[in-house]
Amino acid sequence: MKVLVGITGSIAAVKSVDLVHQIIKLGYQCKVIITQDGLSFVTPTALSSMGAEAVYIDSKMDQYSYTSIMEHINLAKWADYILVAPLSANTLAKLAHGFSDNLLTATILASAAKKILVPAMNQQMWKAPITQSNLETIKYLDFMVWGPTYGLQACGDIDVGRMIEVENILNNLRELIAQNGHRLLYGKRVVITAGSTIEQIDPVRYISNHSSGKMGNALAECASFMGADVIMICGKMSINTTSNIDKVYSVGSAEEMFVAAKKHAKNADVFISCAAVCDYKIKNASSQKVKKSGTDLSLELTQNPDIVASIKKMYPSLFVVGFAAETNNVVEYGINKLHAKNLDMVVINDVSQGVFGSDMNQVTIIDRDLKQQVTELMLKKDLATVIWDNIVNYWGIYD
Ligand SMILES: Cc1cc2nc3c(=O)[nH]c(=O)nc-3n(C[C@H](O)[C@H](O)[C@H](O)COP(=O)(O)O)c2cc1C
Repeated sequence: MKVLVGITGSIAAVKSVDLVHQIIKLGYQCKVIITQDGLSFVTPTALSSMGAEAVYIDSKMDQYSYTSIMEHINLAKWADYILVAPLSANTLAKLAHGFSDNLLTATILASAAKKILVPAMNQQMWKAPITQSNLETIKYLDFMVWGPTYGLQACGDIDVGRMIEVENILNNLRELIAQNGHRLLYGKRVVITAGSTIEQIDPVRYISNHSSGKMGNALAECASFMGADVIMICGKMSINTTSNIDKVYSVGSAEEMFVAAKKHAKNADVFISCAAVCDYKIKNASSQKVKKSGTDLSLELTQNPDIVASIKKMYPSLFVVGFAAETNNVVEYGINKLHAKNLDMVVINDVSQGVFGSDMNQVTIIDRDLKQQVTELMLKKDLATVIWDNIVNYWGIYD
């Protein structure tokens, strides 16, 4: 997802550095255009340091010093979303009347991207009839307007005109992207395994692992938002699954998960193996409780089925995503797993950083072309959108 951030000459521009940083942390690509007056409040260096892919500054169209004379067209086509935050009264007036006298306004005019304006100005500037008239005009056009809000202003006034908080901008953006993504998985059938399998030793004891099911649940929730029919096959979970999932099946052992996966993957478009499946099970599990004997006890283990590899083998046209948990040589092992199991994509957790049970995660996503994306440490629900973004992009649904 590509977000172009426009920064104009408002004091609230000082918050845009954090905004850009947070957008990048969500895994979105981000470029920035700063107006000439915006430069009084924020520097290109700060924005580049936060990871912006490119930062453009401008005054007049003929003063561009870019790689292409058609930079406004390039940027207009590049962006999926244009977010002007903060939006000054001046740029609002220009946009409301179709002015295109600088890189930002020319790019916006030339773009079919979704356009979001986040105004910030002194309360009197905001209340001014001409500003309100411009606002009415722009709302009728293809712009969304978020804010402003009531509060203490830089000038000392307390009234409406303050830019909404960065956190609220991000929440709105995330929701908007999820809503727009709705159609992207519409009609697609998605099967996701989650949690850990449990392998019985006897009727009261088992071996298992620390997987909580949070990542699988976040992926299912996100797919559901994007319009997919979602089936979850859950082992042991430390959370309740989200209520918007179409069907949830509970299983215990890897064998049971395999049976359910074979059944439901048959009619699916995407299969994500997010569950932490135990590699081994007890060879001769006891049907009765094993009594304490006063001596050591050995458990003999035997291999469980390789669910994700088997599913890809059974249904080669299914888009199959595997998760790998590694503690070292993360990328190398991830690529090996991708090849060995013939996966379409692998998501590698570095579990040396304590992923299990946490609400946060950081992963490396590798597709069949060996294109890699190393994400920031982020909330699992945000990571889910990044992973789906990768799947949808690789799969070519955007094309
Ligand atoms: C210190 C200072 C703070 C300003 N803050 C704002 C503001 O919050 N909102 C606004 O609309 N204009 C503000 N202005 C005025 C704009 O910078 C001015 O209208 C400028 O022409 C906007 O240009 P731009 O829209 O091309 O960025 C401020 C000006 C100064 C000097």
